[in-house]
Amino acid sequence: MSAKILDGKAIAAELRASIKTEVDQLISQGKQRPGLAVILVGENPASQVYVRNKKNACKEAGFNDFAYDLPATTSQADLLTLIDELNDRNDVHGILVQLPLPDHIDPETVIESITPSKDVDGFHPYNVGRLATRMTKLAPCTPHGVMTMLSKTGIELRGLNAVVVGASNIVGVPMTLELLNARATVTVCHSATKDLPKMVSEADLVVVGVGIPEMVKGEWIKPGAIVIDVGINRMDDGRLCGDVEFATAQQRASWITPVPGGVGPMTIATLLENTLQVAKSQ
Ligand code: GUN
Repeated sequence: MSAKILDGKAIAAELRASIKTEVDQLISQGKQRPGLAVILVGENPASQVYVRNKKNACKEAGFNDFAYDLPATTSQADLLTLIDELNDRNDVHGILVQLPLPDHIDPETVIESITPSKDVDGFHPYNVGRLATRMTKLAPCTPHGVMTMLSKTGIELRGLNAVVVGASNIVGVPMTLELLNARATVTVCHSATKDLPKMVSEADLVVVGVGIPEMVKGEWIKPGAIVIDVGINRMDDGRLCGDVEFATAQQRASWITPVPGGVGPMTIATLLENTLQVAKSQ
C-alpha cells in the first residue's frame, strides 16, 4: 500500500480564500476589518519564520496585522502592559504571543493575561476548559486545523482507536480533547509511556507532535492507519523532516500528511479562522 497524501497545503489555501471572501463581505457591509496582533519576543529563528508566515497570511486575507517584534530583554511587566493595551483596543480582535518566550518570562502568566475572547491561540485556561467541556469557543490552531483537514478529506473519526504521541499544551492535550469530542477512543502517549511502538501499532489514527526528527518509525504503523505528523524539524543538511519516518510510514498508512505542506499550513489558516470568528462576533 502507498498512502494517499493529506494535502494540508491545498485545503489551507481553500480555507484562506473563503476567509478572504468573508473579509471582503464584512468590509462591503461597512464592518470592521479583522485585526490580529502578533507579538514576538527575542530572535528564535524558528519563531521568526512562523511569525513571518502568520503576518503574510494576515495580509493576504485582508486582515490588519499589528506586529510587535520585541527584544529578548523585554521585561515581563512591559509585555503584560502591551497585552493590556491590546486587550482594550477594539480594532484588535486576536492577540497571539509566539512561544517559546525567553526564560525570564513566565508563559502561563502571559497566556492568562490575554482576554479569553481575543485568545485566538486557544491557550487560555478558559478556552481549554471550554474545549474540554464540549463548549468550544476558540480552539488551539494546530489540533483544530488537523480536525478541519480530516473532515474536509471525508475521514470519519467516530469509533477509531486514536493514539496521540506527545502531551504538550499546544498540540497533544488539545488534540486529545478534539478527538474525544469527535467520538474517537483516544490514548495519549508521552515520554513516560512504556511501550510506544506497541501503542502506535494499535492505532487506526496516529497524531505525532513531539519535536524529535523521525521518532515514530514506519514499521510501527498499523497497515491502513491514518498518520498525522505535526513535527517540523530542521536536519543538519538543511532538509525539513517530521516526527514520523515518512518513506516507510507511507508504505503502510492509508493517509499521511507530508512535511512540509501538511499540518503547518492548516495551523495558520485556523488562526485566521479564529480571528475572523472573533471579529464577526462583535
Ligand atoms: N509556538 C509553536 N506553536 C505555536 C502556536 O501555535 N502558537 C504560538 N503562540 N506559539 C507557538
